[in-house]
Amino acid sequence: MNKLNHIAIIMDGNGRWATKQGLIRVKGHEEGSKRVREITKYCSTVGVKFLTLYAFSTENWKRPKMEVDFLMRLLDRWLEKELDTFLENNIRFKTIGDLSKFSKKLQKRIQKTKEATQNATGLTQVLAINYGSKDEIIRAIKKATEQKIELSEDNFNNFLDTYEIPDVDLVIRTGGEKRLSNFLLWQSAYAELCFIDTLWPDFNESELKNIIDDFYKVQRRFGGV
Ligand code: FPP
Repeated sequence: MNKLNHIAIIMDGNGRWATKQGLIRVKGHEEGSKRVREITKYCSTVGVKFLTLYAFSTENWKRPKMEVDFLMRLLDRWLEKELDTFLENNIRFKTIGDLSKFSKKLQKRIQKTKEATQNATGLTQVLAINYGSKDEIIRAIKKATEQKIELSEDNFNNFLDTYEIPDVDLVIRTGGEKRLSNFLLWQSAYAELCFIDTLWPDFNESELKNIIDDFYKVQRRFGGV
């Protein structure tokens, strides 16, 4: 039977969800942040060990300043509120991506959340923030070069932000587009890909359950026969 250790989600469609409701785009992000909690809790109850969520890409800085500022504030408020959920559900919090571009306040909040949850033994929620695979790969090569280490397929992961995280088994993208958008390109080499039309704020446990059931039916051969 397939193992489902690591699910990675591209949470797309917040803006369109809000526009459809006659709301401003950022309201979609606010609603989307509520789904993050529900989906994380659900994953932790069905034995998934790692859940990586694409919350802010290296390209997202190009959005209007008002939207970027809103997302930064939302992330800060959300982390403050979420700490109890993490602790109550034995969830460890981690991030991937270059945190140096965030405000000192947000960096502190992220650090505090990581420290407070570091001994949790259940699911690890990995938030991809200021994350882009190409950026991560270049930073990894620079680190290895500085340490004069010859890179190989086996040791490359040691230099990635995901060094403690297993490869992705299943990538889900909501919002109808069929692309990976610079998300976990190395780590998803053998992942099953699932693209659904549902907008992220409309995504729910029962749809995720169906996707997980389908995942277990697929025969993964990893290049073998
Ligand atoms: C893509 O939707 C979504 C994002 C760029 C941000 C994802 C953020 C959240 C789900 C909420 C915040 C998360 C946390 C953890 C606090 P889009 O805006 O590109 O939607 P569109 O394609 O409909 O315009």
